[in-house]
Amino acid sequence: MRRPISNSEPRPWQVGTGLILGIETSCDETAAAVVRRGTTVLSNIVSSQAAMHAAYGGVVPELASREHLRHIVPVVREALAVARVDFADLDAIAVTEGPGLAGALLVGILYAKALAFAIDRPLVAINHLEGHIHAVVMEARRQPDAALHFPVLALVVSGGHTHLYLAQGGIGNDVWTYTNVGRTVDDAAGEAFDKVAKLLGLGYPGGPWIDSLAVHGNSQAVPFHFHAIKAREGADAAIRFDFSFSGIKSAVARYVQAEGMLPEIGARRLAVAEFADARVAEAMTMHREALLLDGKTLDLLASFQAAVVGNLMRQTFAAAEHFGARSLLVCGGVAANRELRSRFVAEAERRGLPISFPSVSLSTDNAAMIAAAAWPRYQAGLVAPESMNAAPQLKLG
Ligand code: KG4
Ligand code: ZN
Repeated sequence: MRRPISNSEPRPWQVGTGLILGIETSCDETAAAVVRRGTTVLSNIVSSQAAMHAAYGGVVPELASREHLRHIVPVVREALAVARVDFADLDAIAVTEGPGLAGALLVGILYAKALAFAIDRPLVAINHLEGHIHAVVMEARRQPDAALHFPVLALVVSGGHTHLYLAQGGIGNDVWTYTNVGRTVDDAAGEAFDKVAKLLGLGYPGGPWIDSLAVHGNSQAVPFHFHAIKAREGADAAIRFDFSFSGIKSAVARYVQAEGMLPEIGARRLAVAEFADARVAEAMTMHREALLLDGKTLDLLASFQAAVVGNLMRQTFAAAEHFGARSLLVCGGVAANRELRSRFVAEAERRGLPISFPSVSLSTDNAAMIAAAAWPRYQAGLVAPESMNAAPQLKLG
């Protein structure tokens, strides 16, 4: 059995290539990537189950685990092949410990443990939320003038999470520390996108659909009175900047009912099922009529998106000001949203606050971010114990 290694001891297993294989299976993407020194992505393979879950309008946990099991071996093989490396070249293996679906996480963890054992390499356990943040850090390491100044305020906004963290660290080899200063009290922002899309008979995941459609609507058409949670003191007397997104979802449902939109939504749901695998943009431009995308629906989507983005901005910039953040980092699947990006950038510029996003392809779940987050931890000798387990509710800070 390997005993814990202290920081000062040499690490006999170290190959010295700086290559880490990242593995991510926390939700509905089976992903593997090889990243050198937390900086250079040699491969980044993502096998998405979205088309399968689309039929149910959301992720079915049991099916997700089974799909991970089917795909994990070929996905890892492909990650190594694309990177042109062998198992023997790896310095370490990194895997998502949580948060996420228990059965889904277990597939990645069990595979990673077995692999680490077989090739005698250390295993590094990564918090998925820190992974999203490190998608930005990884890209910042490649740019000497990266706009990350500490403390960084990080908004992690995805299908399962809407969190604000105040983070301290560096973009070299520092292990960052986090303090949670805001979270959603009910639905995550991405969950609201997914539920509203489902409510309107659109495809899954809903975010990309609404992102593509909202530009064709009038964002002032439906005046949503967003339930903004006032900054308040948490249990430890620190001021918190929390979010709530279930209210706007219910408001959309009420609007749909009041405006008699249900029959066309039923017809749209059937039409969208035909395009389950089609890319959103394609479905949009080619099939707008077939999908019954009338002005009222487009206005509703535009108004919904604008309200969600507005609320994310209000809380985030208020927190940045309160905590004296020196830069802002926005990551997670919803950070792919075009309106969110442009409005956050405009407001950050207005305030003179540097802002960073991951590139769009690294915003949604991937394993490159997991390998990147593992680099400082690996350097610090923070190797996972052999008893490491799936942690579905794992917190960050
Ligand atoms: O980070 P992610 O891939 O998985 C989780 O950790 O949850 O985020 C997925 C979420 C989904 O809710 C999806 O609808 C949303 O991100 N999303 C978007 C966009 N692309 C993905 N939301 C709004 N606009 C987008 N372009
Ligand atoms: Zn995620």
